[in-house]
Amino acid sequence: MEEGSCSSKLSAFLAFLLEGKKQMGLTVGLVYNLGKYDPPEDGEPPDVNAELDSETTVMAVADALRQAGHDVAFVEADETALDALRAHHPDICFNIAEGLRGDSRESQLPAVMELLGIPYTGSNVLSLAMALDKPMAKRVFTYHRVPTPKFEVYEIGQPVHKRSFKFPLFVKPAREGSSKGISPASMVANLHELRRQVEIMHEEYHQAALVEEFLPGREFTVGILGNQNHHFFPITEINFAPCPEDHHAIYSYQFKKEWDGEEYYFLPAPLSTDERARLCKLALAAFKAMNCYDIGRVDIRLDSEGQPHVMEINPLPGLAPGFSDLPRMADAEGMGYHGLINNILGAALDRYGMLDLRVASRTA
Ligand SMILES: Nc1ncnc2c1ncn2[C@@H]1O[C@H](COP(=O)(O)OP(=O)(O)OP(=O)(O)O)[C@@H](O)[C@H]1O
Ligand SMILES: [Mg+2]
Repeated sequence: MEEGSCSSKLSAFLAFLLEGKKQMGLTVGLVYNLGKYDPPEDGEPPDVNAELDSETTVMAVADALRQAGHDVAFVEADETALDALRAHHPDICFNIAEGLRGDSRESQLPAVMELLGIPYTGSNVLSLAMALDKPMAKRVFTYHRVPTPKFEVYEIGQPVHKRSFKFPLFVKPAREGSSKGISPASMVANLHELRRQVEIMHEEYHQAALVEEFLPGREFTVGILGNQNHHFFPITEINFAPCPEDHHAIYSYQFKKEWDGEEYYFLPAPLSTDERARLCKLALAAFKAMNCYDIGRVDIRLDSEGQPHVMEINPLPGLAPGFSDLPRMADAEGMGYHGLINNILGAALDRYGMLDLRVASRTA
């Protein structure tokens, strides 16, 4: 499949990887942060650990890898990870670690893996750090002429000043995912509401507030797999119609946690071939601008004139089976969860020139 084209069929590249998966036999380190280890403490918001993975997700990824013939070494991405990685000597790591703390937390384990010379799936240290820092990602998008809403950043302690663009605006934490800190109140209609939301970002989420132009249109998320012959999953559109009216068509923390029925999504999104191609092209431009590898999900929304803008890129997208966007997309096109996990691994093996290792391990 050509770059930017949007056929939902697997490319020859992916079919090759799927065909080969049964013959591999590598030791794959599965690097993760389990949510249960870090419950919210007193005074912390309820979504403080929203990004961390459940045991179900970790076991589902492990199961998919094992079914493809690999041995799985479990590595909790905390202070014990360095020793665990050295002890297990994995051939490659499957990285789903969100990191426990710090502004560049998603990059910490990738940096350790690079230090130890262990290949890993997904984007590298710099891309993960930049994507987590939404203002930084938006600066990169702007440089590469990838449309993204105009924005301002209010660091902790910085007062809200007169702005150069108009209400309504949207306020979110500068460095979060999984809709942490995002609710209907994130859309602000006046200076009073803006100040209140910025204060919440500073005081409850202990970080800078990102203030953006509000995009009132349809919302899509586009999944990308691979590195040269990029594969696009069927696009998901969020269906806000069944939500309470006062929810303001926001894909909030509450939405992601509570409203996971099929009626809340259009999959595939009802789009013309041209519209779909345009969204895929935009998503790929964001993916390339950030130098992402193997897998990613790009969140896009339309402005009042129907023009698409990139809200953010997720180089470490959620992989909860049957629940997160990407596994739903993979199910919808018949790739399935096991296919998704092993295609991510396959893309990384190909990128590292390790497909030969698969052949060697088969003939050994
Ligand atoms: N500028 C905006 N205008 C309108 N709605 C927005 C804007 N930015 C974000 N949103 C809404 O908030 C939701 C969450 O924003 P965003 O995708 O940036 O956060 P996230 O926590 O990183 O999400 P993810 O779970 O995908 O990691 C979006 O899906 C969208 O519904
Ligand atoms: Mg998002």
